[in-house]
Amino acid sequence: MTKIHQFDAIVVGAGGAGLMAALYATKGGVKVAVISKLYPTRSHTGTAQGGIGAALGNLEEDKPLWHAFDTVKGGDYLADQNAAMVLATEAIDAVIELEHMGLPFDRTDEGKISQRRFGGHTSNFGEKPVRRACHAADRTGHMILQTLYQQCIKHDVTFFDEFQVIDVIMNQGTCVGVVAIQLGTGEIHIFHGKATLFATGGWGRVWSVTSNAHSLTGDGAALTYRRGVPMQDMEFYQFHPTGIYKMGILITEGVRGEGGVLINGRGERFMEKYAPRIKDLASRDVVSRAIYLELREGNGIKGKDYVYLDVTPTTVNKYLAEAGETRRITAEDVEKKLPDILDFCRVYLGVDPVKQPMPIQPTAHYAMGGIPTNVHGEVVVDANWTVLPGMYAAGEVACVSCHGANRLGTNSLVDLVVFGRRGGKAMAEYAKQADFVPLPANAEKEVESEMTRIRTSSGKTRPYELRQMMQKTMMEKVGVFREEAGIAEALETVRELKARFQTDLSIDDRGYKFNTDLLEAWELGCLLDLAEITAISALNRKESRGAHSREDFQERDDTNWLVHSLIKNHAPSAFATGVFEPDLNTDKKVDMSLASEDERFIPKARTY
Ligand code: FUM
Repeated sequence: MTKIHQFDAIVVGAGGAGLMAALYATKGGVKVAVISKLYPTRSHTGTAQGGIGAALGNLEEDKPLWHAFDTVKGGDYLADQNAAMVLATEAIDAVIELEHMGLPFDRTDEGKISQRRFGGHTSNFGEKPVRRACHAADRTGHMILQTLYQQCIKHDVTFFDEFQVIDVIMNQGTCVGVVAIQLGTGEIHIFHGKATLFATGGWGRVWSVTSNAHSLTGDGAALTYRRGVPMQDMEFYQFHPTGIYKMGILITEGVRGEGGVLINGRGERFMEKYAPRIKDLASRDVVSRAIYLELREGNGIKGKDYVYLDVTPTTVNKYLAEAGETRRITAEDVEKKLPDILDFCRVYLGVDPVKQPMPIQPTAHYAMGGIPTNVHGEVVVDANWTVLPGMYAAGEVACVSCHGANRLGTNSLVDLVVFGRRGGKAMAEYAKQADFVPLPANAEKEVESEMTRIRTSSGKTRPYELRQMMQKTMMEKVGVFREEAGIAEALETVRELKARFQTDLSIDDRGYKFNTDLLEAWELGCLLDLAEITAISALNRKESRGAHSREDFQERDDTNWLVHSLIKNHAPSAFATGVFEPDLNTDKKVDMSLASEDERFIPKARTY
């Protein structure tokens, strides 16, 4: 028997964006439920390490306009400039608000919030690196998550922990809630709401080497896509340059912010070649490509497919002296400022970063694309900014688009708190004046029968086999570098895997309680859909921009491609039915007339 719950506002996902939205919706005076497949403090925001960017200017002069400029330039000019401006401006009081909630930021000697350098953060429109990343050691995301969760508890937000949302419910052109499975019992629940916000995070598990947790399977993006919501800019997927070799676990950019350098197998600090001015602190797309190019030239360590990230005081101090800087670092500084990454390397690699360089390779990290929204977190469904009533999105699953083609480090945490807060406020306003649109009859039936199909499937292929093939294919063919033939092959493979997912799947556990076998299989269906639309979008965009680097179209083409991509499923269904026949529509949603990197950023006004 399906259980039905009714709340004014429903938030799916309990990371930073979901918690901030829930907090602000509650403060706005409406009844809020947060549904999370994990216990909230296990959400992936907790793994964000190096910092949250805000132009506080605590250590050197900084301005929101410079932050916005870096964001637009780092995003290779595809960012919506109004969104980048909102991000940079509101970052300041969002960080102060977190501080007032009790977040234990590191401090300067004067007691102000401490800030460090990060890739692409500059003062005066690219003139020189600036300290903008506010940090709590290398556990900034963890601290944000704990702080926001405590605030939500304090404000009586209702939590449904370990409930997996498996479908979105639409009626009369409005989003009216979601269908979820309670993991502990296998029971189906319907959550009926006036406003529903998706904050389900990214889908790094599409690729074989990723910094993303196992839970990052893109559920919110996949299930809204299946119901007809277009996905924006799916071709732009960021590879963070420094993941632990083979494991993908993130080694924060904060390491380079503290002076760490990348070294190839010839002992060279190779970023001097690729970004002579800003070197190791170039934006992520530039550094990831540089590493791949070094590896291709045979300059990996011992000829293998990794390079070193070196934060040993001897090396760092040598380069600081060469650069004419007076600052020096000690082993104690490294221990104090980067405790988590020291632990990871010591435990997983047997490498002590205070004494030895760390073996690293680029790791699939962040989706710039996702569910299109305006700056209020309202989901929009076309290039005319048509709002889908009742549906909201924030955080990595959303595409505002403040990051454009490539996100700057620390801007994901800013995005969560700034646009989570805006989404929460907007939901409360909407819910206070809207009536409940009724649920359609049998809202859960379609997805329930899909779950039954997976649970009782008796084919020959295990989900892990399909997942590994998808991840390997996407890593090799739709990774840091791509070209037409490779992407087309990847697309074909993913479509074959999707067909096998439908016809030849087999899982072991046929029960209901904590059936993780079933849920992993269902999540794989989400990943396959997202892999497919990533490949289609990548095939379509015939230029190189930001994280989308086409070897067969190496130049950025502003004349034809200064546009967002929207990909739409024209046969909306609750689950994967084989090959989608998407309509890929590109449209110039915003006037982004910055033609060259030398032009000064002037924010373009847009109604918001
Ligand atoms: O390098 C890092 O600490 C990652 C930060 C981010 O993705 O923003």
